[in-house]
Order: sequence, then C-alpha cells, then structure tokens
Amino acid sequence: MEVLIVPEHKIGELVADDVSGLIAERPDAVLGLATGSSPLRIYDALARRVSEGVLSLQQTKGFTLDEYVGLAEGHPCRYSTVIQSELVRRVDMPSHSVRGPDGGASNLHDECRNFENAIADAGGVDLQILGIGSDGHIAFNEPGSSLASRTRVKTLTEQTRRDNARFFGGDIDAVPRHCLTQGLGTISEARHIVLVATGHEKSEAVAQLVEGAVSARWPATVLQHHPRVTVYVDEAAASRLILADYYRYTHAHRRLVG
Ligand code: F6R
Repeated sequence: MEVLIVPEHKIGELVADDVSGLIAERPDAVLGLATGSSPLRIYDALARRVSEGVLSLQQTKGFTLDEYVGLAEGHPCRYSTVIQSELVRRVDMPSHSVRGPDGGASNLHDECRNFENAIADAGGVDLQILGIGSDGHIAFNEPGSSLASRTRVKTLTEQTRRDNARFFGGDIDAVPRHCLTQGLGTISEARHIVLVATGHEKSEAVAQLVEGAVSARWPATVLQHHPRVTVYVDEAAASRLILADYYRYTHAHRRLVG
C-alpha cells in the first residue's frame, strides 16, 4: 500500500494524473467510480482536462459502487443521478457507458447478480476510485461485512445515515436504511485501487485501513491484501498514522529501483 500525505487541494489533480496515465495506455479502460464528496475534486480535474482537449473518456466504461434502495428514478441523491451530473455530463463519456446497481429493481438479488456479470463482461475494473466512511466502510460495506462479499443488499449503520444526511437536507429520516453495494471481494478484484480521504473525521478509519489489523470490524482493511493500492490523504486524515513520518520519507526519496 502506497500512502501519500499531500495537501487536500492537490489530491484531485494527482488522481486525475493516475487516470490520465491509464487512459494513455488503454483508451477503453474500465473505471470504478465512487460517489459522495471525496471524489468531487477528481471529477473536476477530469472535466477540466476533457474540456481542454488533453484527455478523452469517450471509450471508457464506468461502474459505480453502490446505490440506495427505494429512491425514485431521477432523485437527486440517487447515485445514478449523482454520477451523471458530477462526472458523465461534464466529460465526453456516453451516458449509457456508466452502470451502477439499480436500487429500484423489482428483484434486488437478481440485480446484484446481473451487476456482477456486467463488471465481469467488461473485463473487470482497471482503476477503482474509493472514498472511505468514518466507520471504515468502502462502498457501503459496513462493519461486519464479509471480506469476501459480493454485490448484495446491505443495511446502513446509523453513523453512515447521519454522515450522509447532509446530502438529504440534513434530514436523517430521509436517508434510506438499505442499499445495494459491491462487496469487498468485488472491489478487491480491481487491478489498481486509489482511495482518497480528507479531514479529521476520517483519521481513525485511515489509521485502521493502513496500520490496523485486518478485520471485518474495519472493512477497508481488506485492502491490505491487495497488491496495488494508492492512498491519498491530507494531514488531517493522516493525523493518527503512527508511521506518517516514514510515509513522508518514502515519498520524498521515491525513485525507481532496479
Ligand atoms: C460512495 C461510497 C462511500 C463513500 C464514503 C465516503 O459511493 O461508496 O463509501 O465513499 O461514504 O463518503 P464521502 O466521500 O462523502 O465522505
């Protein structure tokens, strides 16, 4: 796991560099797209590059991580709506090239299976962008999630519903109790995972992710088993990392060896 402690305002461009590097090699790359506030600066940076003509996402495909159950089609908080407005409509991706699990499907279990098949049919995810919840979830894999889980229905914790109430006008009762989410096993199959976290409220989850024991109690710790994870954090989110100085030292003395 590579841990980069960088100023918050630089994270968007740094991850956009990772995406641009991948697309230079593979214009039809498959992107794993998080929603929520963490990736917004990344999407701003990608949109700017596309409008400047230095990047094209036209041939890419995207898969979102999760979706609330029970929000009407077009609801502003539905992640299928959010990803269209935050990314797809601002770049040159055809709108149908991004798919998420459909939280309005009549048979949610079939939908989870179909969604997994769609990812497999696309050849798997090349680069997965992730945020992290203050309770250590990635996608909506709440504490207690199986480290081998696949896309399924989950119940959100009260903490996640409280954290996300800000998107629902501050009304926790408006936040659905259930969601569909890629599993930890699903996410772990992405070839490169880039996780971004900023702010003190993420510092415990980040400390567990990077330095804690691998455990379903802190679901993001499953990423310690992944061979290629890059974690971008600001000073606040890094504030509980015991080895922070070592990560800074590694970054400062980074060079290609061999
Ligand atoms: C969203 C998602 C969640 C968020 C996490 C952090 O698709 O999968 O895991 O990444 O809840 O949310 P923010 O970025 O809003 O702090």
